[in-house]
Amino acid sequence: MGKGHFGLIGLGVMGENLVLNAERNGFSSVVYNRTRQKTDEFMAGGGAGKQIQPAYSLQEFVDKLERPRRILMMVKAGGAVDAVIDQISPYLEAGDLLIDGGNSEYKDTERRVAKLESQSFGFIGMGVSGGAKGALEGPSMMPGGTKASYDAIESLVTKMAAQVEDGPCVTYIGPGGSGHFVKTVHNGIEYGIEQILAEAYDLMKRVKGMNGEQIADVFKAWNATEELNSYLVEITEVCLRTKDPDDGTDLVEKIMDQAGQKGTGLWTVVTALEMGASVPTIYAALNGRVMSSMKPQRQKAESILKGPAVGDADLGSPADAMGPIMDAVVLSCIASYAQGMELLRIASADNNYNLNMPSIAQIWKGGCIIRAKLLKRIQDAFNADPQLPNLMIDPWFADQVNRRLPGLAKVVAASAANGIPVPTFSSTLDYINSYRTGRLPQNLVQAMRDCFGSHTYQRVDRDGTFHTEWLQ
Ligand code: 6PG
Repeated sequence: MGKGHFGLIGLGVMGENLVLNAERNGFSSVVYNRTRQKTDEFMAGGGAGKQIQPAYSLQEFVDKLERPRRILMMVKAGGAVDAVIDQISPYLEAGDLLIDGGNSEYKDTERRVAKLESQSFGFIGMGVSGGAKGALEGPSMMPGGTKASYDAIESLVTKMAAQVEDGPCVTYIGPGGSGHFVKTVHNGIEYGIEQILAEAYDLMKRVKGMNGEQIADVFKAWNATEELNSYLVEITEVCLRTKDPDDGTDLVEKIMDQAGQKGTGLWTVVTALEMGASVPTIYAALNGRVMSSMKPQRQKAESILKGPAVGDADLGSPADAMGPIMDAVVLSCIASYAQGMELLRIASADNNYNLNMPSIAQIWKGGCIIRAKLLKRIQDAFNADPQLPNLMIDPWFADQVNRRLPGLAKVVAASAANGIPVPTFSSTLDYINSYRTGRLPQNLVQAMRDCFGSHTYQRVDRDGTFHTEWLQ
């Protein structure tokens, strides 16, 4: 076998599937893993009979790759990425390119791009979405770094990516850590939608008394609509229909109600707060996971803190309830995308990323976890106005908000009356109501700030900065 076109470090499930994807698309590959056993297992299994060579030392790995080398690292985000960079750098030559395909913090990527570029190497921070199946069959990829580095991997990633009607689900995102930033926001939206669908399930189960199959039927019907057709709705139906092989009952009911997280949702929210972007639906989803992890406390509090009895407040029959619940789900999903896109717009200006908003919507239409029919509408909205401040004021989305807001309000009210937490629904309702209110009560906040701290205020009827001696 001649020299490999493409190198992969890290034979976890994502790494294995990405290298198989590259090889299938005509890029002969070389693989290296920290432990020899993993490499041998892969070469005897999925990698057997393919244009893939193993390497058992970093020296052997780089020697087997054609120059300039294109090396994808699929290792755990954080210190492991720096460790691999430090270990391999001595073997690299000018022009060689490292790609970090993990879920790295975008500020780490900014630092790594600057460091490696200063050593005449290329560095791409690339968000990869789609899970194990996507990695093998075609993920959505979000590469950021210098344009020259992207040009060196373009032929590779455009072939490996999922393909939709208007092209591959990959594009040059922008400089520095922009690729990982866009992936982080993708994951924030992912957190939002997962929580939204979980809240809908909870309402159907606890207020309407529906069983798993009945709820799955609703998700199936939703997946046939333009507004909700999406990968996450599709797999929710699958999860709800899956039975525990031990006793044939619904498997989801056996799963501990504690959701973990690996960082990207948190980073989305922290960055949004730092940048002054409003992401309450995404924050509510993150906080939902935090609350879920407090299981022993919640169990104790259940017997101390009494809410209203779960009854049937205002949602009517299961059939009547489905309209408002769908309204709540659609608007909360729209809010998640709107908040994520707004954060991207603000970050693009703050960090000089020059993000192309329609292109980002385009590459999320296939391969990734948040792929949904709605993304075509999002792409259209940003094509019509690349500076659109908020998705909700685009005509198609505004019509959705105007038609569905009463349903969302009804669901939030009924949930409150039943004592059922619906954090993403209720934050979305407040988000939309705040956004559509021309005059908010922060005039009184300003008065208080000026009263106790002489923070001054502006007036609506004249220009200037004012202070009042309130306590005299
Ligand atoms: C994807 C996913 C993936 C992420 C998991 C886990 O786009 O394929 O975002 O990259 O690692 O979804 O994320 P949490 O463990 O934080 O939920």
